[in-house]
Amino acid sequence: VSEKSPLQHVLESQQLSRSFLDHELFPAAYRMQMSTEVVGDEISRSLAGQSISCLFYEPSTRTRFSFEQAAGFLGARVVSSENAGEFSSAIKGESIEDTVRVMEALKFSAVIMRTKQAGDAKKAAAVSKIPIINAGDGAGQHPTQALLDLYTIHQKFGLVDDLRVALVGDLANGRTARSLAYLLGKYENIYLDLVAPVGMQMKQDILDYLGSHGIRFEQHQRLVDVAEHADAIYMTRAQTERMPSEDTVNGEGVRINDYVMAAVKKHAIIMHPLPRSDDFAELPEKYTDDPRVVIFQQVANGLYTRMALLNYLLN
Ligand code: CP
Repeated sequence: VSEKSPLQHVLESQQLSRSFLDHELFPAAYRMQMSTEVVGDEISRSLAGQSISCLFYEPSTRTRFSFEQAAGFLGARVVSSENAGEFSSAIKGESIEDTVRVMEALKFSAVIMRTKQAGDAKKAAAVSKIPIINAGDGAGQHPTQALLDLYTIHQKFGLVDDLRVALVGDLANGRTARSLAYLLGKYENIYLDLVAPVGMQMKQDILDYLGSHGIRFEQHQRLVDVAEHADAIYMTRAQTERMPSEDTVNGEGVRINDYVMAAVKKHAIIMHPLPRSDDFAELPEKYTDDPRVVIFQQVANGLYTRMALLNYLLN
């Protein structure tokens, strides 16, 4: 993204430039944060008169509600299908391409979609004149989650360069870690520890990207081996919904526990895109109120970054 090629669709993290993040999105998200947090500050209703379609073919709590709240705060009308696979004409075989053509014909300004298959949002964007925002496409990407994650890191450290970040858990199927790895790769002197059980390691496409961009990384199987070095630890759950049902998941080495917490630096942050899983137990409830755990700050930042993004795309 540059001044010469304005962002039209938001499909994958690698399309977002560092300059766009640092000079456009983060300052705008901060302004949105101030306007919603500071009592008496007026939220700009910059999207008044516009309407936005949310098509969610997979379940969501944070992404859908935060997009709807973001659009509403900015004055836009939102029409949502929270179970579009069943309650839209997708169940009669309508293609994703025809579905977005319908949204365009109905004068929506943008479509926010969560889909089951990696690449669905790209297919939609290929035929769409209105912005398509990928709110998670199967095991592909979740770029707006990565934006809020990076904003959270930036908010804590005041920069993103020179940080050591551990991405932990199901890195093979977790689209949020994939998208965040791409964004972190835009910064200087980043060191990534990729911590995953056997069978859940980061896929080759991301390793190739990191290699070709000179990002230093190591692969590990036990979080406790790297916890003391990390500035940020990004936990993820096992994406069991994307695995064959006979697969058993051993998350023992990729859990926050007392040994890990004892090793984590005082000023480090522990993140999670949520939802967290009781079965995988990657971030047990008892650590929720530890000051290093910023998981609900991430959720709030999802609101501010999505307000900033919608405002940028639709004004
Ligand atoms: N982080 C995230 O995408 O959460 P939801 O699945 O609840 O939207």
